Amino acid sequence: MKEKLELILKNASDDIKNAKSVLELDEIRLKYLSRKGELNSIKKNLKDLTDEEKRTVGAFANNVSNQLELLLSEKSEELYKIELNKKLEEERIDITLPSDFRPQGKIHPLTQTVNEIVEIFQGMGFSVVKPENSPEVETEYYNFDMLNFPKEHPAKDMQDTFYTKTAPNVILRSHTSCSQIRQMLTQNPPVRVISPGRVYRCESVSARKNNLFHQIEGLLVDKDITFADLKGVLNEFIRIYFGSARPTRFRASYFPFTEPSAEVDVQCIICGGKGCRTCSGTGWLEILGSGMVHVNVLKNVGIDPEIYTGFAFGMGVERLTMLKYAINDIRLFFNNDIRFLRQF
Ligand code: DAH
Repeated sequence: MKEKLELILKNASDDIKNAKSVLELDEIRLKYLSRKGELNSIKKNLKDLTDEEKRTVGAFANNVSNQLELLLSEKSEELYKIELNKKLEEERIDITLPSDFRPQGKIHPLTQTVNEIVEIFQGMGFSVVKPENSPEVETEYYNFDMLNFPKEHPAKDMQDTFYTKTAPNVILRSHTSCSQIRQMLTQNPPVRVISPGRVYRCESVSARKNNLFHQIEGLLVDKDITFADLKGVLNEFIRIYFGSARPTRFRASYFPFTEPSAEVDVQCIICGGKGCRTCSGTGWLEILGSGMVHVNVLKNVGIDPEIYTGFAFGMGVERLTMLKYAINDIRLFFNNDIRFLRQF
């Protein structure tokens, strides 16, 4: 019996020594040390032995059992460490690796400016004209005639305006002022709207000019509207848009659809009025055209100029964005160079 036990000890020790995994060790434990294991089946036969033999063989069986338990726990610890290290190695994360680059979309700077300006005027009670009152493909009738342009006005020249082949007199609008007409034809006073959109001019492209650009038109028609209202609204706009009470200048000008007309200058953002290249040494930057809506325009849309008066203004979105961020080339807005766009 003792030989059997020695054999078990030897086999089990070998098995333990050669075990490759903790799982395998569990199986070895089952095979030799469990209730139905080999060691126990020997212990069961002890009853057939003499008392003396029972004692020595029994003690030896316990000894074998203890030795195997010890070997198992040592091996188990060893294998556990190996398995853990292997797992750690496999699941290792290199925190010094650069992370995935996920480019984030941005709103185009021109759209940002439009949104900002629209919000400022909404704050003063203006609403945005309906898209159907602001088409980009227009007729000469709305773009010029209804706005009191004389028949032979130079702006109507093919040199300045894009004509289409669709139909005679169908053009790409050269300004957003046509939406004034469309709005007044569909809405009775009081009218208080702004109209952002694209406009087109047949011009050679340069750092200052593109043949597609954006304007925001404003129109307010009501009883008792005066030039003081125009100044008040535009000064408030400039204060909010440029962020501080910047000196402004209303300079007499001419537009066919306003009388009197004024161009509005702000003190140069770049040099603070001393005179620099951006302001051509004048210390002032022209930012918009404006004026009191011409009596003929009101008549054209069937509004009685004896009862109602109004003012209108139009500004260039590219120009306002360029001034705010000191951008020196209008073409940057249209090239879609990500290095430029990312900065806004
Ligand atoms: N339409 C003019 C332009 O494109 C800008 C303008 C001037 C609009 C005076 C107006 C205005 O509404 O009253 O240059």
